[in-house]
Amino acid sequence: MFTTLLAIPLAGADLPEHRITNIFEPLATPAESEKNIALLVFAITGVIFVGVAGLLAYTIWRFRQPTHAERTEEPPQVYGSNQIEVAWTVLPVLIVFVLIGVSARVIAAVENASPPQAALKVTVIGHQWWWEVLYPDYGIVTANEIHMPATNDHKNATYLQLQSADVIHSFWLPQLSGKTDLIPNRTNFMWIDPHEPGVYVGNCAEYCGTQHANMLLRVVGEDPKSFKEWTIQQQKRAVDDPQTSEGHAVFESLACVNCHNIAGLGKASAGSKFGPDLTHLMSRQTLGSGVYKNTPENLRAWVNDPQVQKPGCLMPSMKLTPDELSKVVDYLETLR
Ligand code: CUA
Repeated sequence: MFTTLLAIPLAGADLPEHRITNIFEPLATPAESEKNIALLVFAITGVIFVGVAGLLAYTIWRFRQPTHAERTEEPPQVYGSNQIEVAWTVLPVLIVFVLIGVSARVIAAVENASPPQAALKVTVIGHQWWWEVLYPDYGIVTANEIHMPATNDHKNATYLQLQSADVIHSFWLPQLSGKTDLIPNRTNFMWIDPHEPGVYVGNCAEYCGTQHANMLLRVVGEDPKSFKEWTIQQQKRAVDDPQTSEGHAVFESLACVNCHNIAGLGKASAGSKFGPDLTHLMSRQTLGSGVYKNTPENLRAWVNDPQVQKPGCLMPSMKLTPDELSKVVDYLETLR
């Protein structure tokens, strides 16, 4: 058990695409404006802190209890000064209104923007403990990895609709934008425009159950040409390789099809969306929502008993014989 827990972060860390997720190194317009406003608030409140703490320290020192020798007559007693009262009432009110104004402007720009007609629209649905990703205009269904064009023009941003299938989750890619909750029976919106091609890593940022910490998320920013190629590939139906028809048959005969859809597999799995869509499983970089690198060994271990790799996850061990396991894994390996 202990070794399993240790293995989880290491398995993710050895992925070559892994980026340091640092909110102070934003690579998208929303994250940049959020960083700027955070620094502005920090600067203003920093000046106030230094002023108040400085006066407090000076007062503590200046009016410390006098020694017997220092003791003189009672100091002058001063009551009320209208000028000072007005100054220390009006100034903080002005500062608060400045902070409200700039915050409201950034929040509106990030959350209330309506997508241009041609914008790429993606629906992200949080599940315990993975992300369903839909491209309604392309008919694409995938999981845990969101592909989108990288762009330096926020007019070409990708617009996200955020929903939940069960409990509250939170969508967070530190270099792209702040956190937005995915709430049952509600749709939240955000947009992101990754400035550089590459993989951006993030995770669920709202405690949502046992495997909350392993509900990892990736955005793959691509140049427009490779994004186009990716959409064409994802729109295809599943490969049906006659060489793996036995594995295909085992998969179809088991409860796998109640949760996982494979486009083109047939009626058995059609519409199953309790678990990730497997039509192009091999095109994804990771297994278990970003936790394990997608290798044949990890896939085999996962199908054998997901409870070892991700204890508490909602996929049970199907108790396959070694022979059945090999056939199913060989079949899944063809789903490019
Ligand atoms: Cu989903 Cu935490």
